[in-house]
Amino acid sequence: METKLLSNSTADLQEAAHLLKEGNVVGIPTETVYGLAADARNPEAVRQIFAAKGRPADNPLIVHIAKLEELESVAVSVPELALKLAEKFWPGPLTMILPKHPSIPTITSGGLDTVGVRMPSHLVARKLIELSGVPIAAPSANISGYPSPTTAQHVMRDMHGKIAAVVDGGDCCVGVESTVIALEGEDSVRILRPGYVTKEMLETVVPHVTLDKAILHQLQEGQTVRSPGMKYQHYSPHAHVTLIEGRWPEFAAWVQQHAEVGTYALVFDGEGADLSVPYLTYGTGDAEQAHQVFAKLRELDDIGAKRVFVRAPNPNGIGLAVYNRLIRAAGFEVIQV
Ligand code: TXA
Ligand code: MG
Repeated sequence: METKLLSNSTADLQEAAHLLKEGNVVGIPTETVYGLAADARNPEAVRQIFAAKGRPADNPLIVHIAKLEELESVAVSVPELALKLAEKFWPGPLTMILPKHPSIPTITSGGLDTVGVRMPSHLVARKLIELSGVPIAAPSANISGYPSPTTAQHVMRDMHGKIAAVVDGGDCCVGVESTVIALEGEDSVRILRPGYVTKEMLETVVPHVTLDKAILHQLQEGQTVRSPGMKYQHYSPHAHVTLIEGRWPEFAAWVQQHAEVGTYALVFDGEGADLSVPYLTYGTGDAEQAHQVFAKLRELDDIGAKRVFVRAPNPNGIGLAVYNRLIRAAGFEVIQV
């Protein structure tokens, strides 16, 4: 299959919406990362998403809507708290797990009776949902296990020949995936995957916000998991990644001691000049690091890195999302210096 690269012109968006309506898979931009989109209600279209990504069938997809009225056709009941959260954070990078409506097939929900729903803020994503007239199932548009794509070129690299088209909407501004939450009663939510919407932001609406243990800790054999995505190897480039925690002088000394041919460092902006190994930087501050982290992991593969020592981000605010992605990219190999 030839994968068409479409622009965000009106004619191209109409073509992409037509492809979606007809049951095809299309790579689309969102404010977080690019998504691999298909009609959430069409089991055959959704099957093609799983096939293109090589995604395990028990890992559910997020369903994207453009208007609040569409929520009741995706979720069978919507608690008051969900409406409060939607009012504050939608459109935007927040996914809520809600009881699934029967119109959403179980292939979309990975066999669960719940469904993850979000209303993206990216104008191209919203336009495509409106023009196609269907709710859009979309996981991140990477090969399963690889870092998520934040440009149309990243999607082309992973999906060329496997899907009908990719819509180029430019660089994703957030850079890490949405915050995924489960509602627990009327005054409490649990964060299953951290993202741009932080615990502190959620606390302005909900009295009790807890962080799921799987965010920072590796699951032990046989442990049940609230969000199936948490149990798989994730976000990993081909290079062997190690996350290093500690202050700069100790980091630099450790890297110097352990570097071999093909070793690179991934450090903060402004650092690295005194390192003896080649390095890339991924910004300073949590929002900037979120914006850059996946693109830099991909770039390290492109330049032939075999081993990467990553300077651990501060795990606060949006930094928790960056830390969560990097700890998985490293297969939980973390070293304190
Ligand atoms: O920002 C995002 O959320 C992006 C863009 C494209 O919208 N999408 C995305 O989808 O990151 P994906 O499939 O890569 O990650 C979805 C995560 C997975 O960890 C999955 O297990 C979890 O959400 N999830 C989805 N539905 C769920 C459900 N019903 N119950 C528990 N976890 C769910
Ligand atoms: Mg993903």
